[in-house]
Amino acid sequence: MLEILVEAIWFILPAYLANGTPVILGGGPPIDGGKKFSDGNRILGNGKTFRGLISGISIGVLIGLIQTFSLGRPGGFTAAILLSIGALTADIIGSFLKRRAGIQRGSPVPGLDQLDFAIGGLLLVSPVVLPKWETTLTILLVTPLIHVGMNYISYKLNLKSEPY
Ligand code: CTP
Ligand code: MG
Repeated sequence: MLEILVEAIWFILPAYLANGTPVILGGGPPIDGGKKFSDGNRILGNGKTFRGLISGISIGVLIGLIQTFSLGRPGGFTAAILLSIGALTADIIGSFLKRRAGIQRGSPVPGLDQLDFAIGGLLLVSPVVLPKWETTLTILLVTPLIHVGMNYISYKLNLKSEPY
């Protein structure tokens, strides 16, 4: 049981770090250039920045490098790159969909906010490597819990303005 949990977190770790890093290192010019979509709402919003994207992918890839050359990781370094890019691509798609639904930047959408990046990472890495189905299921079950916990800690540390 504990073994599956450790396996799950070890596998998805680059996606977690890619998604969490922008909270600390993000900010600056938004990816959508401040532009609006045809519906009058922002394309992505100020919460999706170049600095967040680049720093997130870099840290995700870096942790993948450390994993690969320490204990090793399924799919190796390539998997870490795909997990990081997949996580932040899904995060951007998530924001695009939120804006199309008229939801303001930072407003929570339970489910989407906690799982988009994990699903995006898993999808992009799947052609290279997928963990056992028990491990995949564990990732999908524990990610929302970890995400909620980490956001609460970020809020308490004044890194985030909302506790979610
Ligand atoms: N962030 C960033 N660049 C990214 C992703 C995130 O700079 N590509 C930073 C932003 O400061 C953002 C914070 O990380 O506010 C938290 O990310 P997230 O919860 O995904 O963004 P929200 O502000 O909630 O915006 P949205 O409603 O679009 O999800
Ligand atoms: Mg958010």
